[in-house]
Amino acid sequence: MSTDNLDAEEGGNTLPELPANVGHETRIIVAVNESGGSVKTTTVAALAAIAAEEGLDVLAIEADSQRDLAHLLGCDDPDANEDIATLFDVVDGIATLDEAIIPARQGEGGLVIPNLWFVPGSRRLKELDDKLSGAMLRELWLQRIVQGALGRFHVIFIDCPGDLKLTTKGALLASKDVEVMACVKSQEKEARALTELEATLTEMNAAFAALGVQLGIDWIVIGESVSDKSQGKAYTDAEEQLREAYGELVLTPSVRRSIKVPEAYSAQTPVPLYAPRSEPSLQYREIAAGMGLTKASFTP
Ligand SMILES: Nc1ncnc2c1ncn2[C@@H]1O[C@H](COP(=O)(O)OP(=O)(O)OP(=O)(O)O)[C@@H](O)[C@H]1O
Ligand SMILES: [Mg+2]
Repeated sequence: MSTDNLDAEEGGNTLPELPANVGHETRIIVAVNESGGSVKTTTVAALAAIAAEEGLDVLAIEADSQRDLAHLLGCDDPDANEDIATLFDVVDGIATLDEAIIPARQGEGGLVIPNLWFVPGSRRLKELDDKLSGAMLRELWLQRIVQGALGRFHVIFIDCPGDLKLTTKGALLASKDVEVMACVKSQEKEARALTELEATLTEMNAAFAALGVQLGIDWIVIGESVSDKSQGKAYTDAEEQLREAYGELVLTPSVRRSIKVPEAYSAQTPVPLYAPRSEPSLQYREIAAGMGLTKASFTP
């Protein structure tokens, strides 16, 4: 949907202009994990909100049929609103990328979050496999779309579903230089999912070597961890094992389990804006700084 479809003053503040191409070197950060419920969407919403607060121009693309990211950025059901174009509509050729980029809000119809834009997912992304069957180089489905956002945003986040199928592969191939951000809870099964992710990345590197693809895990975010052994030794052990196995790839600190995160979800607001002083918000800020998501890290 273009911003023309919204009232200029809707939500109590004037709608911003979509960023033009000013030649930014755009970073693309893809949130992945083979297992579902592994804090990908929470992390994308949190880091995107923090980067936007830093003054960076940020686009979050929701490559997931669950639409949790759209929910968290103030749009509960993009499929139910005919004024809103989704990522699927762009794939389908019935909307342009710009028509699908909308400003993020704090809650449905709430205040616009400055500098933060998103492309909502759609339930129809489940049909992507069928839609692209027989298409040449179908794994590159997102690359063409993302081209239109390069140079306009400092950072593009892509939120993936909890599997490593075509949708996620497309996100990983959105450009040659994507940064792979694996999101995990501190549980052994999630650490095993990282091994699966590494195997998939190796396969993709072999399959797309001619295109210069060289994927590897760049960042690991541990979300929803418990703070001490009395709350769950298995959790702290799994966290220690992850840090041992992956060393500096694992960002510090881990994000603690907190009621503020589900509360923020209900309020349809990224946790750093919903509860700025809460533990997870402070931890996500440190993680963002560790990933260089600060204005100072970008050349003007
Ligand atoms: N630090 C935290 N404290 C408490 N709950 C959390 C925390 N982080 C995430 N959660 C909750 O865990 C659940 C899963 O998180 P999230 O939706 O971010 O995972 P996901 O990887 O995107 O899942 P899916 O694979 O289904 O898309 C959500 O209900 C979320 O609110
Ligand atoms: Mg999700």
